[in-house]
Amino acid sequence: MQRRKFIQQTSTIGIIGIASQGFSIGKFVGTEEKVRCGFIGVGARGLSTLSLVLLRKDSVVTAICDIDPITTAKAVKAVTEAGYKSPTLYTDGEHAYKKLLDQKDIDVVFICTPWEWHTPMSVDAMKAGKAVACEVAGAMSIDECWQMVRTYEQTQTPFMIMENVCYRRDVMAVLNMVRQDVFGEMIHLEGGYQHDLREVKFNDGVNYYGGGVEFGDKGYSEAKWRTAHSLNRNGELYPTHGIGPVSSFININRGNRFEYLTSMASKARGLHKHITDHPKGGMNHANAKVDFKLGDVVTTNIKTANGESITLTHDTNLPRPYSLGFRVQGTKGIWMDVNKSMYIEGKSEPHRWESADAYSKTYDHPLWKKYENDASGAGHGGMDWFVLNAFIEAYKRKDPMPLDVYDHASWAVITCLSEQSISLGGEPQSFPDFTDGKWMSRKPVFALGEAY
Ligand SMILES: NC(=O)c1ccc[n+]([C@@H]2O[C@H](COP(=O)([O-])OP(=O)(O)OC[C@H]3O[C@@H](n4cnc5c(N)ncnc54)[C@H](O)[C@@H]3O)[C@@H](O)[C@H]2O)c1
Repeated sequence: MQRRKFIQQTSTIGIIGIASQGFSIGKFVGTEEKVRCGFIGVGARGLSTLSLVLLRKDSVVTAICDIDPITTAKAVKAVTEAGYKSPTLYTDGEHAYKKLLDQKDIDVVFICTPWEWHTPMSVDAMKAGKAVACEVAGAMSIDECWQMVRTYEQTQTPFMIMENVCYRRDVMAVLNMVRQDVFGEMIHLEGGYQHDLREVKFNDGVNYYGGGVEFGDKGYSEAKWRTAHSLNRNGELYPTHGIGPVSSFININRGNRFEYLTSMASKARGLHKHITDHPKGGMNHANAKVDFKLGDVVTTNIKTANGESITLTHDTNLPRPYSLGFRVQGTKGIWMDVNKSMYIEGKSEPHRWESADAYSKTYDHPLWKKYENDASGAGHGGMDWFVLNAFIEAYKRKDPMPLDVYDHASWAVITCLSEQSISLGGEPQSFPDFTDGKWMSRKPVFALGEAY
């Protein structure tokens, strides 16, 4: 099956005694040099990642766990249609994943479940000695971030946070520019998650799924669980797509660290208006009475040990085109991705924006030049191929993961700290140092190798 067609068919992205079983360092245990993969959660994201794994010659899918029979069936079909035997299935309830973790012929697990499951599943997987590729999210509690870090430190089982935006082509070109000092010393950075998620819809070419104003049990895909966070929480709920790239620009946890943040939330109107205005909703719809807690625009300011300021924006419940809103500003120039513009003092016409396109070509990252064809057709403009490749290649080589448990903890904790700050009228909240001081001596590794 043609690569692009295959991905389109399997991707469902819409608009929107710990050490005893531990990881055996120095020994690749895969069969016939293939990395044996288990999947926990094969909804929109899990199925998309699974489809990329199936295209790799060095990996095989041996197990799938999901509580939804329809999504499970789609994933099994994807595996068998790719010419592999049907994987072992674990579908018997929310804790069935624990049985998957007992399965011997699994080297790595992909955790692509709702946010609240990421920590228990990752912790159990690390304890079972299965290397973890965990999807992105904010944390439920600060303690949860420590659990991840401590479990990793006790088990030494590889853990990677699968932040794909770190591998976006223009983002990596800008990283290249930062590393070549084109912007001068870093001063201020911005990013965020600005994506209209009011309706989760999907069209597989035959049927339409989702849409409307339902959530929870009556919702589809992320509307089943994600909307509950908008209902009950007020904070920077999804920090990693913005803070991941920003962290690689300024070497967070590798010579730099986040010190404190303050957050502010606007009023919440978007979801209520969406429900009352929608043809399937209206003023008399039951969900029109729901009081959503999440402010429509949540702004978080972070100060780093090296003196940079960072602004993150979370904006998912209002009408707007998608943009992660990056800004990278130093003593010599500035990049802004919303209008794809650049200004470099001495090169650009004074006081005039110029297009970032030429810079993106000139500073195209060597990994993108090398792997452009392999990544072609993969999700989110190819960056999904890169993040998967980085995980698999680092695992095979026994290298440290390029986006590790310390990155995960210091990104995911932003959610909890921002909730606290908002509830306290914008009071500053200090970041825990999850590295216990190691940030001062750790060296950057992200995208510095030839293989990933
Ligand atoms: N990196 C990206 O670009 C990107 C894009 C989309 C989603 N995500 C992330 O991926 C994760 C999953 O999101 P999604 O869009 O696929 O959601 P989804 O609702 O489509 O899929 C989640 C799947 O997990 C299953 N599940 C729920 N509880 C389970 C349990 N206890 N055991 C086993 N399976 C369980 C559900 O049945 C569902 O099939 C989230 O963290 C989300 O933020 C990342």
